Amino acid sequence: MSFSRKLYVIFPAAGSGTRMKSDKNKLLMEVNGVTVIDRTIEAFKQYSDESGIDLSCVLVVSPGKTDEWDSYVKDKDYASMISSIVEGGDTRTKSVGNGVSALKAFNPANDDAVFIHDAARCLIDKDSISRCFEAINEDETNVCVSGVKTKNTIKMVKEDISQGVMVESTPNRNLLYEVQTPQCFKYSILEECYRRAKEDGYEATDDTALAEHYGYKVRIVEGSYSNIKITTPEDIAIAEALLRNMQ
Ligand code: C5P
Repeated sequence: MSFSRKLYVIFPAAGSGTRMKSDKNKLLMEVNGVTVIDRTIEAFKQYSDESGIDLSCVLVVSPGKTDEWDSYVKDKDYASMISSIVEGGDTRTKSVGNGVSALKAFNPANDDAVFIHDAARCLIDKDSISRCFEAINEDETNVCVSGVKTKNTIKMVKEDISQGVMVESTPNRNLLYEVQTPQCFKYSILEECYRRAKEDGYEATDDTALAEHYGYKVRIVEGSYSNIKITTPEDIAIAEALLRNMQ
């Protein structure tokens, strides 16, 4: 196995944040005094510093906001890791697709590891990053994703106009995983999936669904229950409580 010393990370950060119900961009909200975006990128910097793995990042931001983000990151400790800031689109798939197009400028090798990590998942820990990096560097793994076994029982439902939401079936909980990010690809597979999705107009709420759609096997790598996505106002308080527990 040729173990890469290079990692590319695309941070989709172009969401509208409407579920946060705030005028302020949720990525600039603070969790224990540090902004969400700083926590997210710092976690990857810490992994890079400790492992010696060279990191290049693409930040995908809302249309018209590249200059603003450029000013924001330029004085940060992690500024040199941000190789490119590009505009996203109106869906996550389009935003990540723009990030993948921006990667071409760095001439990645076919086998180079590329992670897509939600900018809003600011409690990502270096062990979860490391497990994903090791997995994607194995010859037989082209695509993998961080995930945890679901703790809850999940119901498949059908929305019925007269009866309301009706249960169709109860999948076996032992076979259900909740996936998070990082979502990880070997570069050539990522490039192919996003190129084909653009041609086909195919959209999905996560990146590895594109790989499944185009016939690639996707492996789940153990994630962390703390790796929550900051989405609604209570997530800030939950993240602060989790951080107290992690320290
Ligand atoms: O919408 P969702 O919660 O799945 O968003 C996950 C991540 O994708 C967030 O970091 C968000 O900023 C990003 N996103 C994006 N472009 C969009 C929608 C979401 O970059 N159009």
